[in-house]
Amino acid sequence: MIFEKDSDEIRWAAELFENGWHARAQRALEAASSAGVFERLAKEPATAKRLAEDLGLDPTAAEKVLIVLAAMGLVDRDGHAWRLTPKAEATLLPDAPCYQGNMLAHTADVWAFWSDLESALHGEKGGWVFDPAGRPPVRSHRNFILGMHNVAMAGRAAELVERVDLSEIRTRSTTGRLTLMDVGGGPGTYAAALCERYPDLTATVMDLPETIEIARGVIEKLGMSDRVRTVAGDWNEDEFGEDNDAVLLSSVLHGPTSAAEMKLEKARRSMKPGGLLIVQDFVMNAEKTGPLIPAVFNVMVGAFSLTELADRIAAAGFSGLQVKPMPRYAGTTVLTAVR
Ligand SMILES: C[S@@+](CC[C@H](N)C(=O)[O-])C[C@H]1O[C@@H](n2cnc3c(N)ncnc32)[C@H](O)[C@@H]1O
Repeated sequence: MIFEKDSDEIRWAAELFENGWHARAQRALEAASSAGVFERLAKEPATAKRLAEDLGLDPTAAEKVLIVLAAMGLVDRDGHAWRLTPKAEATLLPDAPCYQGNMLAHTADVWAFWSDLESALHGEKGGWVFDPAGRPPVRSHRNFILGMHNVAMAGRAAELVERVDLSEIRTRSTTGRLTLMDVGGGPGTYAAALCERYPDLTATVMDLPETIEIARGVIEKLGMSDRVRTVAGDWNEDEFGEDNDAVLLSSVLHGPTSAAEMKLEKARRSMKPGGLLIVQDFVMNAEKTGPLIPAVFNVMVGAFSLTELADRIAAAGFSGLQVKPMPRYAGTTVLTAVR
């Protein structure tokens, strides 16, 4: 038989073929989200023609994208009109707790890197370079920071809290109060989640001024402004405070170019003996053969293997390392260690 339909080879080939289509469907979703399709349909169901008129879109292209969204379970037909499904209402409307629109916009913002990966792979200067240290335009920076908030709100903050036991910290003063420094804390969502879980905890989010401006809005919206303060700072220039009972380094130890040693040393210097270091990041396995998400992240930004990260934490003077994978967020791992 030349033309088979059922074999390992056929299944492997089909998988590669389908992967490409999923990436394209995600682009359709990103474009629909940035065009305001979901917010418009939340007001009332609409035909593609009406939706296109209201949003200034091409009606034929709008109809085609709506069909993709329907195939993704995000919209439904109501006669000739399109309406949102519960899945879209829960994840694609800005006031929904699990809103993912900023993360979708951030993914769209970095798409240029992936579109031109061939150039980067050939080491050509024309390749679009992802520079996390560079100052991105304001809109994309907002998408990036609020995208981190979207991910944290979609279960990850609760999962982090589940893996961190602050009641074990032995540095407590007579007041019993604890302090946490969240370095490069972004929107401050993880600091807020830990404060919600531990009533004796107050946290400080340290980040660049343009991020702190966004964090203040997020923290206020979460109703945590009295427990989570913010401070503008630069990890290259500034110390991480003093007498911290805990330090959180979440998604800031991105592989060899992230100055992880310097950040870990400053974290240690800022902590009381017995304080808890909490690291959360994309971490590759010791053999560097996966998982997929940290492997992909490593191409664009950088990621450590578990061994590389554990060695750096130990070299900075921390002991009692505990490794707590987050199975729902493939490749995200929480590590804790004691100063
Ligand atoms: C990937 S985000 C992580 C945000 C947050 N910790 C989280 O896990 O959601 C990296 C953060 O580092 C901050 N950052 C970048 N350069 C910095 C610097 N030089 N000093 C302080 N923060 C910086 C960014 O503003 C951003 O909030």
